[in-house]
Amino acid sequence: MASVELRNISKRFENGTWAVKDIALTIEDGELVVLVGSSGCGKSTLLRLLAGLENASEGEILIDGKKVNQQTPQQRNVAMVFQNYALYPHMTVRGNLEFPLHMSHTAKDQIKARVGEIADMLQLSEIMDRRPGQLSGGQRQRVAMGRALVRDPSVFLLDEPLSNLDASLRAQIRAEISRIQKRLKTTSLYVTHDQVEAMTLGDRVVVLDHGELQQIGTPQELYQHPKNSFVAKFIGSPGMNILPSELIDRGDGRLGVNLGGQQISLVLERQAYEKLVPYSGQDVYTGIRPEAFACAPRQASFELKANVEAVEFIGHETLAYLSLPGAGQVHTDQLSIARLPGQFNKPNADAAVFYIKPEALYFFNQAGRNILIEGTGDR
Ligand SMILES: Nc1ncnc2c1ncn2[C@@H]1O[C@H](COP(=O)(O)OP(=O)(O)O)[C@@H](O)[C@H]1O
Ligand SMILES: [Mg+2]
Repeated sequence: MASVELRNISKRFENGTWAVKDIALTIEDGELVVLVGSSGCGKSTLLRLLAGLENASEGEILIDGKKVNQQTPQQRNVAMVFQNYALYPHMTVRGNLEFPLHMSHTAKDQIKARVGEIADMLQLSEIMDRRPGQLSGGQRQRVAMGRALVRDPSVFLLDEPLSNLDASLRAQIRAEISRIQKRLKTTSLYVTHDQVEAMTLGDRVVVLDHGELQQIGTPQELYQHPKNSFVAKFIGSPGMNILPSELIDRGDGRLGVNLGGQQISLVLERQAYEKLVPYSGQDVYTGIRPEAFACAPRQASFELKANVEAVEFIGHETLAYLSLPGAGQVHTDQLSIARLPGQFNKPNADAAVFYIKPEALYFFNQAGRNILIEGTGDR
């Protein structure tokens, strides 16, 4: 068991790519942190730096308070599970699980006890004599985890370990990983491109984009208080709608927002008002979560007229793709999405009316920063 600290870690490859830029991050002893971001954003590079498979160009890596930059992967006692599992094909499940212990010259009876324990925990006891080629994807995945955990590593690193599995198996093994991690309390860093996986698995989630850390927080913090429009769009399924808009001073001591020609009066608490006032008369981005749209008025909700361009019925809910009437020609990737319960039919009329609670609105400045949480520290 160990804590992990990355102090301003950067990695520049020889071809000039800065894969990881100035990452500062602490993982507490026993914590499971999930690192999430799109393909190519530097997730695997960061894991490999921590494992000792790459050297950092800048910064320090500490495990349990000790600097490990110069240590080999073995010395760091870090175990990694790769996306393709990398099992030894000619060895049985037992052979694969025993291998790391043979390498570290563990005594025979200890190997037997430890492998038995891990096999029990991962439900592998029945298939110990099979080879990887005779296993299902889910079983291979569990063997890969077992082989990593059998050495009792200080830090457990998982690089998109579920991406080769189908959706239902992914959900099941995700729950298993969470159970095992909570039981063993091994400090873990789990990498995925899938924000749902990140939100359901992580004690805390780190959002990465182009090698840069965007935000660290609990799933709730990232969803409710995204620091910038990247995180707002990335977290949630679908993510937050971000609409070009203008903040206006209504002259009656209140602010409003102009969304494609529709003026909405804002009801704001003092603190929010003071943060937004400097932006009045300026272009900002207004954020609305898909789940903030409703078809019927609710207390204090405001109306937003929108053209329904398409609907997707998916059983318990319908996704409606919307354009604002005043916004002119909009590309399909600029449509807003409303998430409505049950079945919603495309109206015959040009525009439908939706009802939105004012507190569901977010505001981002031109640089994409969340105006309402600016200056409130590292939330
Ligand atoms: N060995 C390497 N040499 C040069 N560039 C690399 C190397 N490995 C990764 N990269 C680049 O670094 C960036 C991050 O890659 P990676 O960490 O694999 O991303 P992710 O795991 O998030 O998909 C990408 O632009 C990738 O092309
Ligand atoms: Mg990767």
